[in-house]
Amino acid sequence: MAKVRMRINGRVRTLGVEPQVSLLDALRERLDLTGTKKGCNQGACGACTVLVDGERICSCLALAVQYEGREITTIEGVAETDLAHPLQSAFIRHDGFQCGYCTSGQICSAIGMLAEHAVGAPSAVTEHLGSVPELTDDEIRERMSGNLCRCGAYNGIVDAIKEVAKL
Ligand code: FES
Ligand code: FES
Repeated sequence: MAKVRMRINGRVRTLGVEPQVSLLDALRERLDLTGTKKGCNQGACGACTVLVDGERICSCLALAVQYEGREITTIEGVAETDLAHPLQSAFIRHDGFQCGYCTSGQICSAIGMLAEHAVGAPSAVTEHLGSVPELTDDEIRERMSGNLCRCGAYNGIVDAIKEVAKL
C-alpha cells in the first residue's frame, strides 16, 4: 500500500492505494467522486476524462500513485463558483447529452481541448500549422474524437463547445 497526496478539486487529499489502482478507481471508489465514469476501462471511450494540471487524461489508464503532488480536476470541481461551468450550461442549452453517461468526460475533455487550442496546438485536420486554427466543426469533432457518445449527441456537443469557444 502506497500513500499518495494529491490536490483534488482544490482540496488536498491523502489516500492509501495499492500500486495497481487506477486514478479512476481511486477517485470513484476511495474518494466517492463518482461523477467521473468508467466506460471501457481501456482508454477507448473517454468517459473517465479528468484534468491533471489542466491537461486532459483518461484516468482509467493512469495509476493513482503516479499523481503524487498533482492537481486533479474532476467534473465535481470544474465550476469555480456556485454557478455551473459555462460548458455545463451550454451542454444543457444545446441538448449535448441524453443519458449523460459520457457527459462528465466530454466536458472535462472540452475544457482541456479549448486550452490546447488556445495555445495553438494543431489537430490532425489542421491545414496550416504555426497559427491558432479556427475552431470549425471539423476541428472540434477531431479534437473531441477520443470521447464517444453512445447516445449520438454529437451535434449538440459540438454546438455547445462552439458557443463557449466564442465567449
Ligand atoms: S473508461 Fe477510460 S477511456 Fe473508457
Ligand atoms: S449522452 Fe449517453 S452516452 Fe453520451
